[in-house]
Amino acid sequence: MIYLDNAATSFPKPPEVSRAMSGVMEKIGGNPGRGGHAGALAGGRILERCRELAAEYTGVQGPERVIFCLNCTDALNTAIRGTLHAGDEVLVSHAEHNAVMRPLMGYHDAGKITVRILPPDERGLLPPQTVSQAIGPKTALCVLCHASNVTGIVQSAGEIARACHEKGVPLLLDAAQTAGTEDIASVHADMIAMPGHKGLLGPMGTGLLCLGDGMLPRPLREGGTGSASESLRQPAMLPDRLESGTANLPGIAGLTQGIKFVLRHRAAMAEYEQALRARLREGLGNISGVTLYDGPADAAHVPVVSFNIRGMDSGQAADALNERKIAVRGGLHCAPSIHAWLGSGGAVRASLGPFNTEKEVDSFLSAVLAISRL
Ligand SMILES: Cc1ncc(COP(=O)(O)O)c(C=O)c1O
Repeated sequence: MIYLDNAATSFPKPPEVSRAMSGVMEKIGGNPGRGGHAGALAGGRILERCRELAAEYTGVQGPERVIFCLNCTDALNTAIRGTLHAGDEVLVSHAEHNAVMRPLMGYHDAGKITVRILPPDERGLLPPQTVSQAIGPKTALCVLCHASNVTGIVQSAGEIARACHEKGVPLLLDAAQTAGTEDIASVHADMIAMPGHKGLLGPMGTGLLCLGDGMLPRPLREGGTGSASESLRQPAMLPDRLESGTANLPGIAGLTQGIKFVLRHRAAMAEYEQALRARLREGLGNISGVTLYDGPADAAHVPVVSFNIRGMDSGQAADALNERKIAVRGGLHCAPSIHAWLGSGGAVRASLGPFNTEKEVDSFLSAVLAISRL
């Protein structure tokens, strides 16, 4: 199988990821923060190491500002639901994933908040001045999809963060497609939601919410934290405030190794993936009947390329590739607004990772050519 669905979850992972996970299952019999015995303490050190590495990558001030979540959706929900109040207005880009839009639209439909979708320029980029002009007295949050999971276009997040900060509005960055390859720290976002299982190369069931100075969302869930057990009330301090119940220790042990790998190889990985993307994009552009949805060539992109084959539904094309043992994703990719903006009606998405090869890209291009001639 040629795996080109890294935007959904990365595969394969560095071997040390699964080694660390089975190491926890086989050798560490303790629940972090729930006891003073060796296993519980060893588990606690694993959590701490993962927080330190994530803080280093995202630039947040202190490991306690890194919150373990189930996935990026959970991190986004924690940030959104824990920050907003009735009467607030939220600004979002046209490229948001349903992980952002559904919690927001739930509140919007209940009459609790208003949501404004800001229009991009003709290139698919959200101008910082559009954000600045849209901010009004009720604007409480701006949410930005750092890179689209459909077009791959990377937004000018640093400038958008500055525009927000000039008007005192926090920026929540959805780094689902950029965590692991982009320089997240340079954005200076106030809250950063990341999946552990995509570009950070950890296992599914992991995600992180990294909180900038002054950000203290209300908890989504309350319960045992292993701390302040004498109190019937949720602790106010981070990370306990936002982490109730037993952690996914095997997953976090794997994620620690994924982040270590990323910190060691990020620059080389990004360069390699960009070269593969250029090969894939150019090859698709040369196949007659293929329409690409990737926006301007001079914009920054993550290695995601979406396209359609003339006369073929995207689901049919993805099935035809699957029959040739190539994994891609067809349809709307949980991002209907950007597909509406593109006028695509759905597309086939090929997304690359650090372990794909030129040979795999060439095999994929041959398969698309063959399918386009059916
Ligand atoms: C832009 C974007 N945001 C959020 C998510 C949700 O991520 P997760 O599957 O980790 O919940 C995805 C997943 O593909 C995504 O592409």
